[in-house]
Amino acid sequence: MHEEVKEVLFTADRIQARIRELGGAISRDLSGRDPVILALLKGGVVLTADLIRTMDCPVHLDFAWVSSYGGGTVSSGRVELKVFPKEDLSGRTVLVVDDILDTGRTLRAVVDELRETLKASDVRTCVLLDKEVPRAVDVEADYVGFRVGDQFVVGYGLDLDGHYRNLPYIGVLHGPGAGGAGGRPELG
Ligand code: XMP
Repeated sequence: MHEEVKEVLFTADRIQARIRELGGAISRDLSGRDPVILALLKGGVVLTADLIRTMDCPVHLDFAWVSSYGGGTVSSGRVELKVFPKEDLSGRTVLVVDDILDTGRTLRAVVDELRETLKASDVRTCVLLDKEVPRAVDVEADYVGFRVGDQFVVGYGLDLDGHYRNLPYIGVLHGPGAGGAGGRPELG
């Protein structure tokens, strides 16, 4: 365990086992639909890389970069679509993959853009973690790895100041970052 990590909430083995379950369910649900898997940069990339390798239906892979953090560990409330797919998604099935669902602003903005602007016909969402907090907007994920309490978590794509994304587990840090003050996540 990394010395700055106070507690491991989900081990690497547990995460991988859960991803295999999610991949199986998603494959069954989206089989024959030629889905676009839309990984949200940067945090959703780790889950996406593991998830698509558990899926046995054909997939296309694309990326979007969305930021809702303007500073601090609390969402700024503004969602900026920094990079979004250029390919034609009209009529397509799209699975949005992100690391964590927190206020919900990020997923809400991405789903709205896909449906309303890009005219995707079926938009689903998958997150590794669902933070059990009141949402700022009305959105829930279709596929959820685990539920977590209201604490700042790192690892498996999730960062503090750009660090810890490569940890194979999800953990809570010692010190100020753990409680939501001090340090901040990078954009995405
Ligand atoms: P919203 O609030 O839009 O947040 O649902 C989604 C994005 O916010 C980041 N986020 C976190 N990053 N630990 C992190 O490292 C956390 O506990 C956390 N909560 C939210 C993350 O980038 C996510 O995609």
